[in-house]
Amino acid sequence: MSFHRIRSNDEYRAAYAESVRDPHAFWAAQAEHFTWRKKWDAVLEWNFDAPEVKWFSGGKLNITENCLDRHLSTRGDKTAILWEPNDPGGPAQRISYRELHDRVCRYANVLKRNGVQKGDRVCIYMPMIPELVVAVLACARIGAIHSVVFAGFSAQSIADRILDANAAFVLTSDGMVRGAKNIPVKAVVDEALRSCPGVKRVIVTQRTGDPVTMQEGRDVWMHMETGFVDADCPAEEMDAEDPLFILYTSGSTGKPKGVVHTCGGYMVYTDYTFRNVFQYEENDVFWCTADVGWITGHSYIIYGPLLAGATSLMFEGVPTFPDAGRFWQVIDKHQVNIFYTAPTAIRSLMAQGLDFVNPYSLASLKVIGSVGEPINEEAWHWYKEHIGKNNCPIVDTWWQTETGGILISSMAGVTDEKPSYAAWPIPGVQPVLLTAEGKEILENDVEGLLAIKFPWPSIIRTTYGDHERCRQTYFSSYKGYYFTGDGARRDSEGRYRIIGRVDDVINVSGHRFGTAEIENAINESEWVVESAVVGYPHDIKGQGIYAYVIPEKPITDPDQARAEILATVTKVIGPIAKPDKIQFVSGLPKTRSGKIMRRILRKVAENELGSLGDTSTLLDPAVVEEITNNRL
Ligand code: WTA
Repeated sequence: MSFHRIRSNDEYRAAYAESVRDPHAFWAAQAEHFTWRKKWDAVLEWNFDAPEVKWFSGGKLNITENCLDRHLSTRGDKTAILWEPNDPGGPAQRISYRELHDRVCRYANVLKRNGVQKGDRVCIYMPMIPELVVAVLACARIGAIHSVVFAGFSAQSIADRILDANAAFVLTSDGMVRGAKNIPVKAVVDEALRSCPGVKRVIVTQRTGDPVTMQEGRDVWMHMETGFVDADCPAEEMDAEDPLFILYTSGSTGKPKGVVHTCGGYMVYTDYTFRNVFQYEENDVFWCTADVGWITGHSYIIYGPLLAGATSLMFEGVPTFPDAGRFWQVIDKHQVNIFYTAPTAIRSLMAQGLDFVNPYSLASLKVIGSVGEPINEEAWHWYKEHIGKNNCPIVDTWWQTETGGILISSMAGVTDEKPSYAAWPIPGVQPVLLTAEGKEILENDVEGLLAIKFPWPSIIRTTYGDHERCRQTYFSSYKGYYFTGDGARRDSEGRYRIIGRVDDVINVSGHRFGTAEIENAINESEWVVESAVVGYPHDIKGQGIYAYVIPEKPITDPDQARAEILATVTKVIGPIAKPDKIQFVSGLPKTRSGKIMRRILRKVAENELGSLGDTSTLLDPAVVEEITNNRL
């Protein structure tokens, strides 16, 4: 059986109706075309209270057999990964399905040689080089659980994630290049591992050739290790519900949590959404500009495209090196057909002006996409006109680390689109809008809290090592629903528009941070007694980070104090979490019970001073005046 792509609005409507009427039959039909070692016993068993969700239970498979082996007879010589290096003058690499299969098998044998077993957690901290894809798939090949940590996170963040997952293995590189910068990678891992005595082996890939320290007995070079293995590595047989990976993401409380996805459902859903949302056709070149360190890279650089037998472009560099035309140059160079990026990138390139766009034809593009945060109308129109040349449908795809794949989006050219609306739920996805009290709002033309009332195959299964946290975060606020943390609007015809987070999560340039997480980092600075962080609208980043800080002692040199605080945040989380504004205050607006009234801080950061609301319940109302007067 082969995959049937939805090709018209009527087909979408029919598929959607069928997916709600009989989800079991619907998803069984979508799962048919994969290679299963053994078919499933039941399509779906679920209970959102526990929560417990099982898709295709009893089914046996290996996702890499579906990404690689399955394609060898028909697409062996086709390019699987098309790698564009940071340096525009450097050679691109075209890795065929056959070659990728070979490299994954060798890497998997290296993992086995070094003691990695099925079920072991493996931390991957690597730049955007082909070896990163190989490493991810090598873990999946032998049933080890990969935990990729974005290569911009600090040593402390890596250590937290290694310890939480109890990972004994780390895969990394000597260094990395991004734009004009040469960044040490192994040295950051070395620092992290000072607090991770449980790590037994570090496997290092060469990228820059820069000197690194290798700890005898713990660290080995990948290029030496491959000499000891062959390319024969049968895929491990996995249960559909065995974990495939952990990916850490921020929430409104505490430390980042390890979102767990499993093999069968994730496979079926990423493939289904990849083909339908982007309307992928056999010889299309697909480029997702995300980093593999985020869910978008997992699902739409690696798994979705490879499951579909596509050519997936992987870019090592940044959009502004050597200049702000780099994305467009790469699109022309590799004749990219489908381009998928983030609003923050669109806005920053838009700000650079059309001189960087005009030299390129962009004629190969058929579909353009957006992900990670709401795309404002101005950016949407610019993208449509100047990149899509008014000739490409835009898919505004709404989803989350926890959802594994796209949940709400139009399908390119098939269902209609509307600026700033993600629009239509994917078949199988049943969104609802709730009131704050948890009542379903049935009418259209309304706003509410976005929740999902039925499982889809790649829904989060648990948070690693702490199932209760998964239950509390996503399934307890509103009984019987998966709660997204986002607010949304439904228009008169049923399209969804995502408004933004309703919890204490800030989405900066498409990256999620909990306010508490950033506050904890700021508070580690010796300059700080206490802090409170809120988001505010930012022209390029979507949201910026505004920090109110009570200093330890009177500040004589605010610039120096700010620099020290930024350095602390960089050390604790990474440079991406640095506040945009730091205001020193003598106190924070607290209620008599000691709770910070963030609503007031948000209003001040947004410069909406007229609507501060009732401040009479505050312990010290005078502090609001001081904060307002000294607003940055
Ligand atoms: C936001 C990224 C509006 C949203 C795939 C969500 C979006 C969070 C969109 C998840 C979109 C993602 N329109 N908002 N198209 N896509 N978001 O886990 O607030 O990094 O809850 O997953 O990003 O971020 P995450």
